[in-house]
Formats: sequence, C-alpha cells, structure tokens
Amino acid sequence: PGPGWTTRADVVIVGSGIAGLTAALRLRAHVDKVLVVTKDVLNAGSTQWAQGGIAAALGPEDTPEQHEVDTLVAGAGACDADAVRVLVNEGPEAVRELIALGTNFDHTDDGELSLTREGGHHRDRIAHAGGDATGAEIQRALIAAVEAAPDIEVIQHALAVDLLLGEDDEGRTSVAGLTLHVIGEGERDGVGAVHCRAVVLASGGLGQVFTQTTNPVVSTGDGMALALRAGATLRDLEFVQFHPTVMYLGPDSRGQQPLISEAVRGEGAFLVDGPPEDGGTRFMQGVHELADLAPRDVVAKAIMKRMLETGRPHMWLDARHLGREFWERRFPTILATARSHGIDPVTQLIPVAPACHYASGGVRTDLYGRTDVPGLYATGEVACSGVHGANRLASNSLLEGLVFSRRIADVLPAELPAWREPSPDRRTAGLVGGEVRRELQETMSSRVGVLRTAAGLAEACAVLDKLAGHGAEAVDQASWETTNLLTISAALADAAALREETRGSHWREDFPERDDAQWAGHFDATMDDGVT
Ligand code: SIN
Repeated sequence: PGPGWTTRADVVIVGSGIAGLTAALRLRAHVDKVLVVTKDVLNAGSTQWAQGGIAAALGPEDTPEQHEVDTLVAGAGACDADAVRVLVNEGPEAVRELIALGTNFDHTDDGELSLTREGGHHRDRIAHAGGDATGAEIQRALIAAVEAAPDIEVIQHALAVDLLLGEDDEGRTSVAGLTLHVIGEGERDGVGAVHCRAVVLASGGLGQVFTQTTNPVVSTGDGMALALRAGATLRDLEFVQFHPTVMYLGPDSRGQQPLISEAVRGEGAFLVDGPPEDGGTRFMQGVHELADLAPRDVVAKAIMKRMLETGRPHMWLDARHLGREFWERRFPTILATARSHGIDPVTQLIPVAPACHYASGGVRTDLYGRTDVPGLYATGEVACSGVHGANRLASNSLLEGLVFSRRIADVLPAELPAWREPSPDRRTAGLVGGEVRRELQETMSSRVGVLRTAAGLAEACAVLDKLAGHGAEAVDQASWETTNLLTISAALADAAALREETRGSHWREDFPERDDAQWAGHFDATMDDGVT
C-alpha cells in the first residue's frame, strides 16, 4: 500500500546522535527546511551511552600527527589515510566548537581541559564530561541547541524504511524522498513519506545483530540496510569491534550490556585471570608494549584466549586500588551501574568479557560523506569514511560523527539536487518476521562473533538463508528491524568468510596471521553484486 501521509523537507537527517544533530545544526543556516527523524526519542541512540570521551589532539604535548599514527596503527593497515588526516586535523576545532555550543567537559584544578588516555593512544587526548558520562553531556548540549532552533523540525518514533529515488528530465537519478514508519498519534501515524532533495544518514550501528552488545536497542543496522537497498555500497562490514571490558552478567543476559570504559584502565585498572589474593595474575603484560592499554582488538583477543585456556566465561578487572573517592568522582555512572548489578568496584573485582561494540564498516563515503547514490550522505557509525580501518581507535567515534557532519554541511547546500517526483518503488524484497531475531543473534554471536572459522561462517550463512524464508505476518517495527538485521548479518557473514586472514577486529582461528600480500584491500557489498 502507498504511504498514508506525506510531508516535505529539503534535507532529511535520519538519526539524532552527535552526527545527526551536528548536521542539522550546521545545515539549518543554508537550507530552507531541515527535518530530523529518529526511531525513538532524541537521546535514545549510542551517543548518549558513550563513556570514555572524545579524542582530539588538544593537549600541549600532543599533535594531530601523533593522533594520526595511533589511529593508523589501531586500524591495522585498513584505514583510508586521507580520511584519517581529515579526522585528526579538523578534530580539535570541532571539539572546541562543541564546547562553544555549551558542552561542559571536565577540567583540571588549574582550569585546563582534563584529558585522559585509552587503549592504543600514546598521549592523553580523551576529553570527557561528568567523569564517565561524556556522551550524555554532548547529547544534552546538542538537544538543547536543536530545541532552541525552531526551524529544525523533528519527528520522533519514526523508523526510516526506504529511500525513494526519482529522475530528472535528463534521466539522472537522485534522492527524491524517504518512507517512514511512524508510531505516532494523529496525522502522522503508520507508513508515510517525506519528499526531499537529500538524505543524511546518521542512524548509528548494528550492535543488535549480536546477542550481547554495548549498543542500545535501537542499533539494528537500519541505515546500512536502507542504503544497500537503495543502491549504495557498504564497505568493511566484517570489521566489528568487540569491546574488551563489558560487564559479564551471566550466560543468559541478552541485549545491551554495561560498558566498563577503557578510561578505567586508562586511570590504572588492570585485567586479571582470577582474584590476585587467590593466585590470579595479570595477563596483559608481555602481550603488548602498552599492556592493559593495548589497542582494543589486542586486549579483546587476550581476554578471549585466557577465557578459552581457563574455561571461564569471563575475566576480571581489578580497579579496587583507585579508591572510593576517585571512583565516585571519576566514574560515577559505571560505579552506580556495577553496584546495581551487585558488584562494588571499590572492594570487588569486576567480571568482564568482550561484547559487540562498534561497526567500523558501513555505508562507503568519500571525504564529504557522499555515498554512491546522488543526494544520499552518511556520517557517524552508519558510515564507512575509512577512518577506522579494521579496528577503531578508542574515542574516535564521537569525533568522526562530529567532523564528517561538519564536512557534509559544508558541501551539501551547494550540491542539493533539484526536486523530483519519486518513482514508484518496485522493490520486492519481503519482510521477515520479528520472531526470528533471537535465532539470528545467537547464530551471529556463536559463529560470526569474536572468533571466526570457515566452517562456522558457512553454518551461519546457511542459518541466515533459512531465516530469510520466514515471511512476516505483520508489517510492524519488529519486522522492519529484523529484516534489516538479517540483510546486514548476511553481508557481514559473507565478508567475514571471504577474508581469510586475521586483521584488527576480524579474527579467523583458521587464518591466524595478517596477510598484507593478499588481503590489504576491502570487501564491498552491493545489492546487485553481493560481497566482492
Ligand atoms: C570506552 O569508554 O571504553 C568506549 C570508548 C569508545 O568506544 O571509543
């Protein structure tokens, strides 16, 4: 059936985290009508949950060049060097602008910006707010700025379903609109359409593909799946980062799990394979020159190895020596969350295990967020700008959203396509039922998770094929999301099967070495050609 309602905007921004709201705030001065659509409420995405902070060369002893080196090393040979240069060079100014917007970052007693360190960084360069509530503070400041800008329209509870394309008189295709599924009241309820000239995807990642993730429930890969269906290219999907220290809540715990920020290790906490008083030892020393602050993939792998060697379902983080006063001041959110789960980090070890954290790949873009579809831009976690390569450096994600949204806003107004009528949507892909989500997640976690093998990946692909046959009985949010999860999972598993090496966050048990001679390139996914 056609849309039940329609509206118009020059530019539609899909998503309301740091990437989406930055784009909206910067575009409003240059575009007649900017509309932000978001699947839940404005602060329901991943930005709100970011703990550690935002990385930029802001310290007196730091330089963009050093930030660049750390980013490239973490990315394990798969970064786009130009994109990394953009990120590190434009990062400091972008963060200063965030401060000018009203974000209250933490300061030292001398009034300087307080900077800390996380895995893979050789300098203190992580700005943080509220101790460990950086994302929440950035989100607060951005929402306040958007609410003070009455010319930015917002539709909440609006799932972006599919892009509408249209042709001009000379046969050139570009974005003509977007269909939405809105859970609202009154006029805009159910499936509707926005006619527009450009869409900026800022819809976040895909963590809900896996059983345990640090991502909120909204992270179902919607933007990536929508872009793929519209003809865009996805890149580097196999590089899914597993955060090493996610609080272990037991084998049956599912969905979003509590993150124990790397900044806790940055302030001196360390990993142990058992309580030291019972003979447990530190195991990161000797694994990497940065020990517990090695890049994230190195720490996640070391934890997994130790879990396999000991048969334990988790390792432990020892941060007792930081002391009560320090914990309360520096990590109040993590302290409260751990206590709510029955662990007091001031007196007890924290059980931790790796869990899905971040999609380093996504919708392939150039240095200005342009995708392969004219009029479609992507920024933040949904995008693959090339800055993360095979393994994102800690706290580069908020920065990426900020920097590349600014760049999109710099070019988009001048290249806004003319209005065009949306062509009839002839896509025939069926919706799958929400009831298959659990089997999908369990398959992805057990076969396409931290540790991958050819046999496991083949099994996963077979299960995903089978699940694709479960037609949805209802056209609702659960079936749209599950269809998106399945679309992205299939491409991710295919890319993981093709990459017969271990690189960054992609860990093949059957191909344990990095192989630059054969696998230095990228895997791209398109609707027509699959993964190549
Ligand atoms: C953390 O605080 O450990 C997460 C930071 C990040 O993912 O960049």
